Amino acid sequence: MFNNNKNIFTLFNILILSVLIRLGFSVSVSNIGDCPPIPARSNGPASIRDLRPDDIKVIGALGDSIMAGFALEGINTDTGGTGLLNLSSITEFRGKSWGIGGDEGAVTLANFVKHYNSSLEGSAVGKHFVFFCSEEKDDDCKYKPDVDILDGAISGGIAKTLDKELDYLIPRMTRLPNVNFVTDWKMITIQIGSNDQCASCSDNNTDVTVDAYAGYVDAAIERIRNNIPRVIVNLVGTFNVSGVYDLTTGQEYCHPFFNNPDWIINRVECACFQGTEQDRANMDTLSAQYSAKLHEIYQKYNAQQSDEFAITFNPALNLNIGNLPLKALSNVDCFHPGKLAHEWVAKIVWNNLFKSQAEKPKEILNYDENLEIYCPTESDTIRID
Ligand SMILES: *[C@@H]1O[C@H](CO)[C@@H](O)[C@H](O)[C@H]1NC(C)=O
Ligand SMILES: *[C@@H]1O[C@H](CO)[C@@H](O)[C@H](O)[C@H]1NC(C)=O
Ligand SMILES: *[C@@H]1O[C@H](CO)[C@@H](O)[C@H](O)[C@H]1NC(C)=O
Ligand SMILES: *[C@@H]1O[C@H](CO)[C@@H](O)[C@H](O)[C@H]1NC(C)=O
Repeated sequence: MFNNNKNIFTLFNILILSVLIRLGFSVSVSNIGDCPPIPARSNGPASIRDLRPDDIKVIGALGDSIMAGFALEGINTDTGGTGLLNLSSITEFRGKSWGIGGDEGAVTLANFVKHYNSSLEGSAVGKHFVFFCSEEKDDDCKYKPDVDILDGAISGGIAKTLDKELDYLIPRMTRLPNVNFVTDWKMITIQIGSNDQCASCSDNNTDVTVDAYAGYVDAAIERIRNNIPRVIVNLVGTFNVSGVYDLTTGQEYCHPFFNNPDWIINRVECACFQGTEQDRANMDTLSAQYSAKLHEIYQKYNAQQSDEFAITFNPALNLNIGNLPLKALSNVDCFHPGKLAHEWVAKIVWNNLFKSQAEKPKEILNYDENLEIYCPTESDTIRID
């Protein structure tokens, strides 16, 4: 009974929203399910510059432990957990990752796209124990292809790792069922640079200099352009990881070892967190420099756009990390974003897809649990400048 009423209410809502959109009003909602469907058009897009969300058939992602959904669900102390780190905490919740998670009901970019095209392929589903890859060997990454699907992210990954991720992603994409690798339209989201910032305090780490970072990202995009037909790269900027340090200092929420508030796991995960305040300030400078390079890379590939290839850029994610509520972080390590932060980023990046570069927000973004989701209209395309 209650459910029926709810359905009727939802239908009524969608009807109203459809009318508003038709009249040219900009509509945003709390749940993607409330966005009215976009009326189908008789022909698909003639060019990638004409791509609507319902045209996207394949979605993929590259990144680090964030894109892998590591520790996203945190420690559930309500179920009798002791709060101590245990094996089920060190899990990658891939199906809930902001960019590529496909678990039912998860608030993710992939599920937003899927709302417009239910035959979307590539979203990650479920979870598994974290895996790492060695630096030396090429083929030792223990992906779980049935969970990861097209989530190529590797926990601990830096920009240099993107090449290894593509070693997995590209062949996996060609073998996806119900996909025509040549003719279907694809979107690949890339977000990398947090571990790079954290590694920058190690003596002479030549892999994380600004130029090395940019070179690796550029090479990954070039490889995508050369090997994947009909693809749009959704390049997402870096953010100031260092904000997590002060935010979590002394916080019991973070389950510090032996209840010593100085022993929070993020102090180990991020090498620079063992350094000085200056080290952490340098991380922020580096993040800004990385993002400036990403902008240059974006401009370079944007100038090479074709009917089959395009790039969109979410500029430096100006996320005010230091201002996050603790509950938005994973309480496993107080380093990784928890479910709430993943959802927030998914909405920001989705909303930006429909804005020109000039329209994308430049101001500092403070956490907003109630940030609304933009409902694209019939004439909205993924904006390519
Ligand atoms: C989903 O995308 C495919 C490939 O672009 C297209 O053939 C199909 O019509 C789309 N489905 C919907 C419901 O838009
Ligand atoms: C380990 O973590 C899981 C998931 O959070 C939780 O359900 C379980 O109770 C924890 N076990 C212990 C001994 O803390
Ligand atoms: C790092 O590089 C500097 C300048 O090239 C050099 O003086 C220093 O010895 C190097 N440190 C290590 C640990 O290799
Ligand atoms: C990130 O750090 C830079 C350099 O300190 C600063 O200018 C910028 O405002 C910071 N961004 C945010 C969102 O805090």
